[in-house]
Amino acid sequence: MSEMFNFSKRISSLKPSPTLALNAKANQLKAEGIKVFNFAVGEPDFPTHKEIVKKAVEALEAGDTRYGPSGGGLPLRKAIVSKLARENSLEYKPDEIVCGMGAKEILFHLFLSLLNEGDEVILTAPCWVSYMDHVKAAGAVPVVVPVPESGPMVNPETIEKYVTSKTKAFVLCSPNNPSGYALDRNELLKLGSYLKAKNWWVISDEIYEYLSFDHPHESIIKLVPELKEKSIHISGMAKGYAMTGWRVGYAAGPKKIIDLVRNLQSQSSTCIPPFIEKAAAWALDQGHDLMQKEIDSLAKRRDIAMELLAKIENVKAIKPQGAFYLFVDVRKALQKSKTLDTSLKFSEHLLNEYQVACVPGEAFEAPGFLRFSYATSVSDLTEGLSRLDQAIRSLS
Ligand SMILES: Cc1ncc(COP(=O)(O)O)c(C=O)c1O
Repeated sequence: MSEMFNFSKRISSLKPSPTLALNAKANQLKAEGIKVFNFAVGEPDFPTHKEIVKKAVEALEAGDTRYGPSGGGLPLRKAIVSKLARENSLEYKPDEIVCGMGAKEILFHLFLSLLNEGDEVILTAPCWVSYMDHVKAAGAVPVVVPVPESGPMVNPETIEKYVTSKTKAFVLCSPNNPSGYALDRNELLKLGSYLKAKNWWVISDEIYEYLSFDHPHESIIKLVPELKEKSIHISGMAKGYAMTGWRVGYAAGPKKIIDLVRNLQSQSSTCIPPFIEKAAAWALDQGHDLMQKEIDSLAKRRDIAMELLAKIENVKAIKPQGAFYLFVDVRKALQKSKTLDTSLKFSEHLLNEYQVACVPGEAFEAPGFLRFSYATSVSDLTEGLSRLDQAIRSLS
C-alpha cells in the first residue's frame, strides 16, 4: 500500500466515543419509528434555562458574531473567578483561567500540553470514556487502576500499586461519571494528603459539581491547599446548567500550563463564540441556585431508579451520590449465560431485543457493568428497568 495511506499511528489507535456512537444508534432506531428507551446519553433531560437562552439571543442581535479572544474573554473569565471564589472557596486570577469548547476540548488540550511521549497518567476505573484516548493522542500511556473488589471508589492504597517513575499525572473525577460516587470530605482529605507528597499533576474534573446529592461538593484543591500549585480544576456549563450543546468548559490552574492550553486553542478552535460567552457569564453569576429545582428533580429520580433496581435479582449498584448515572454490576447475572457473557454483548442484546440503550462498562474500563442515565422521565425509567429485569431473567 502506498506510503500515503500510512496514517498517524497514534490517531488511528483511538476509538470513537462509545457513548456518542450508542446514542447515534439509538437515535437511528428512533428515526425508523422504533420506540427506544435511551439511557445512554450523558446529558440532563431538561432544557437550558430560558434566561440563559435570552442572553445569547440578545448578544447575537447586538452583533456579537465575530471571533472572540482565545481562551475566553475577560468578562467570562472574571465570572468564573467570582464563581470559584463564591461557590468553591478557590482563589484564582483571570489569567489563571482558560475557557474552551466544552470541558472535553479543555481536557484534550491540557493532556497535549502536559504530557511527553511515554509519560504515564493514572486513571481509576470506572473512568470517563475520553481520558484514555486523550492521553494516547498525546503520545502518553494511560495506566488504569481497576475497579476495587468492594466496588467503584478511589483510594490511595489501590492507586499506589500502579505508580512508576514515569507517572506524570493523576485524574480525579468526583462526582464520578460513570459510577456516581462522590468522595466526601474525609475521603478527599485522605486522597489529597497522599497526592500532595507526589511529584505529579492532579487533574480534578469537577464537571458534575452541582450534582452532588448527599453532601455539598468540595474541591480537593480547596481542602488540601498544597495541591493548588500542581493541580488543574476542570468544570463547565454542560451538566450543571443543562448546556451540553453550547460547548463551554474551563480550567483553572497555574498560569504556565493555562497559557499553553490557550495557545493550543488559538491554533485549533480559536475561541468560544462570543454570544455564548455572554450567556455563560450571566449563568455563572446566578450560580447553583438557578438550577436547584432541576437538581432536586434528578435526586428524586435517583431514588426511584435505585428502588426499581433493588427489585431486580443478581444485579447491584452503589447508591450514586452524584452525577445522573446508575452503574449496575451485572457480573453475577452474566455468569448464567454462555453467549451473553460480557456487558458489551449484553448491552447490544438489550438494545436489539428490548430497545433499551445503555453503555457497557467496557467503555469505562470496567467490564461487567452497565451505565444507565436516570436523567429521563420516570415512566421511561420504570419501563426501561422492567425490560432490564426481563432480559436478566431470560439469561440462561
Ligand atoms: C467526567 C466528564 N468530564 C468531562 C466531560 C466533557 O464535558 P463537555 O460537554 O463540557 O465537553 C464529560 C462529558 O460527558 C464528563 O462526563
